[in-house]
This record gives sequence, structure tokens and C-alpha cells, in this order.
Amino acid sequence: MIRSLFEFVNELPSSTAWRESLNAYVYLLTAHVVSMGVVAGVISYWDMRLAGMALKWIPVSKVQSGLFPWLYGGTAVNAATGILMVYSQPMRYYPNFWFWLKMGMLVVVAANAAYFHLSIEKTVAQWENDPVAPLKARVAGYVSLAFWAGVIATGRMTAYSGLVPQWWIDLGLG
Ligand code: HEM
Repeated sequence: MIRSLFEFVNELPSSTAWRESLNAYVYLLTAHVVSMGVVAGVISYWDMRLAGMALKWIPVSKVQSGLFPWLYGGTAVNAATGILMVYSQPMRYYPNFWFWLKMGMLVVVAANAAYFHLSIEKTVAQWENDPVAPLKARVAGYVSLAFWAGVIATGRMTAYSGLVPQWWIDLGLG
């Protein structure tokens, strides 16, 4: 089903046009990496505040309001350029182990962020001035830091599609 979708996109004239452009991939990858730096930088400060590792004396809501506009802007450019790279070469990424591992890690960071915003953050007024946040918030911060590092590492590894575990090759996917 996912394979059919990727094959369908591969045949679209607009996908072919992006693929055959000499410069598109270079510009997209450059914008993707620069926006990745913005996202990773902002997320690191935010997560370290939650984990009690940095900016301990700044109220959580102030860290959030100061940083989040940059997070939204960076994420918009980062996601758009990432999706366009896949759109332009779907059959290059479909069999790529690192690409799918990265997508899985992105699901984890999104679920972790949703859990924080829908649950833990509801009580933020009670602890936002504490230098060390409650355990649940600290765990959310550590989980986020670990999986964002994973997203960056697997993003870089995507270029090395041959460096994959044997079982992935055995599945006929590599
Ligand atoms: C919608 C989400 C995303 C998609 C579809 C996506 C897709 C891609 C693609 C297709 C590449 C090029 C791989 C290659 O040809 O070698 C790439 C590279 C990369 N991505 Fe993403 N990406 C997404 C989000 C992110 C996020 C959120 C981060 C980290 C904050 C990230 C970090 C990286 C890194 C570090 C690279 C490697 C750049 C390099 O080769 O030096 N990506 N991504």
C-alpha cells in the first residue's frame, strides 16, 4: 500500500520535474539542514529546561513563548523541504532503512510532545518557576532530547543506504 503510493508519486510529472532539476536537491537539502539546525537548537534549550539541565531560573512559560515562534518557523521549512525531497525521489527513499527509522523516531517525538501538551503542561502554572520540573516533565525532556538526537543521526545516515542490518536486506527491502 505504501509502496503503491510511492510508485504513484514517482510517476507524477511534477515529481519527475523536481527529480530532473539540476539544482533542486542541493537547495532543498541545504534549506533542510539549516532549518534542522534551528529546530534542533530551539528544541535543545526547551528540553534542557524541562529536564532541569539548563535555564533553570527562567519560568517555563517564558522559555516557551520566547522560543516557540522559531520552532514553528523552523519546523515548517524543515518539514516542507524534507517532504519535497521525498516527493522528488520516492523510489530512492522507499527502500532506505535509515529513512524509515527516522520517520519512526519523528512519530515518537511527536507523540511525546502531544503527551506533554495535552497532559503534563496542564499543571504548568504550579511548577513553572521551580528550577527542577516534576519527574514527568523531566522524563518528557530526556525522551525528547534522546529521540531528536536519533532523528539527526538517522537523517545523516540516510545518505548511506548500503550501511544497513542484514535482516533489512533479507527482507528484500535494502
Ligand atoms: C517531514 C519530516 C522530514 C522528512 C520527510 C525528511 C526527509 C529527509 C530527506 C529526504 C533527507 C535527504 C537524505 C539524503 O538524500 O541523504 C533528509 C536529510 C536530513 N534530515 Fe530530514 N526529513 C524530515 C525532518 C527532519 C527533522 C525534523 C530533522 C532534525 C531536526 C531532520 C534532519 C535531517 C538531517 C540531519 C539530514 C542529513 C543532511 C545531510 O545529509 O547532511 N530531518 N531528510
